[in-house]
Amino acid sequence: MDKQIVKDKLNRPLRDLRISVIDRCNFRCTYCMPAEIYGPDFAFLPKSELLSYEEIERIARIFVGLGVEKLRLTGGEPLLRKDLPILVEKLSVIDGLSDIALTTNGVMLPKLAVPLKEAGLKRVNISLDTLKDELFGQINGRGVATKPVLKGIKAAQEAGLGVKINMVVKKGLNDTEILPMAEFCKNEGLELRFIEYMDVGSTNGWKMDDVITKKEIYEMLKGNYELEHTGAAYFGEVAKRYRYKGTDVHVGFISSVSESFCSSCTRSRLSANGQIFTCLFNGNGHDLRDFMRAGASDEEIAQRVIGIWNGRSDRYSDERTAETIANRKKIEMSYIGG
Ligand code: GTP
Ligand code: 5AD
Ligand code: SF4
Ligand code: SF4
Repeated sequence: MDKQIVKDKLNRPLRDLRISVIDRCNFRCTYCMPAEIYGPDFAFLPKSELLSYEEIERIARIFVGLGVEKLRLTGGEPLLRKDLPILVEKLSVIDGLSDIALTTNGVMLPKLAVPLKEAGLKRVNISLDTLKDELFGQINGRGVATKPVLKGIKAAQEAGLGVKINMVVKKGLNDTEILPMAEFCKNEGLELRFIEYMDVGSTNGWKMDDVITKKEIYEMLKGNYELEHTGAAYFGEVAKRYRYKGTDVHVGFISSVSESFCSSCTRSRLSANGQIFTCLFNGNGHDLRDFMRAGASDEEIAQRVIGIWNGRSDRYSDERTAETIANRKKIEMSYIGG
């Protein structure tokens, strides 16, 4: 299939589509969906508001025609969406894709890793912020121990999926877990990415003082391991990667706060109710669902997407200041999937 190259105002091509399939989650991580806000009365999207799998497939095909090569399924927790392997099956046969991945908390992988792999999924990024059960239960807000996640990791490895581990680091919360997590993942041959705690959304009470920077974590690791810088695995990768010398195990840093990466940001985001967002920190969505449901043709939808991308100038992390932190209209991470 011939692909168009669609560029934004800062000359960044459209390469990735992150698709949120559901806004719900079975965890209540303190930095993402604090339990006091996402309580029993929280109004999640009703089912009728969600894009159907046919609608997601149609939008994904249009994006691929416009240059997207990589799809990532997110949530909330994407594995809570019923029959997710059916969606993966529909997406994985789209001509022109080089990668299809999923970001998850991992607890449902023992059941779903094999069907997802069989449906064509290539890899999963699994969140795990500590190896300590009590602390993990506190962070995930549901008292869940690490074992279900560790089982999920094993299941994904055994199913033949590529696996990376995401660890959000928050000062005073889980910074003592940096070295134990590094050691554990190195021994298990897992690529761990340390993620700087970000000011996404408006519910997590983010403060700059809570951030442990890439540099600080790197210095801690350097005290224990010899690290070799390696290039990005693909253009625009968010993680800066290193290899433990003498092994083929990598470790990465996602430094959105201290060393932003907006200049190579080729990511678009589709919410579960069919809005396009051009930046993780830009709360203005562009509707595709109602347009599509009103009968727009593929060509009309493509033209709308081109217009959205051509008008994009977001570079929130590059511009982050006290003013932007306080005043920008933000979007919640659980709604847009990170
Ligand atoms: P790979 O394809 O494996 O490199 O995955 P990824 O790191 O792009 O995706 P994942 O869902 O695992 O996200 C890891 C962390 O990076 C999360 O905290 C995301 O919110 C963050 N992240 C991903 N893309 C962006 C981005 O465009 N901007 C910012 N600021 N953070 C991002
Ligand atoms: N800052 C950084 N990363 C976050 N994530 C969720 N909330 C935040 C935040 N405030 C991470 C999750 C998951 C990924 C999708 O985003 O841990 O790994
Ligand atoms: Fe759920 Fe992931 Fe958010 Fe935790 S970070 S509440 S697992 S969506
Ligand atoms: Fe892309 Fe926005 Fe993240 Fe910058 S802050 S890398 S523009 S999503």
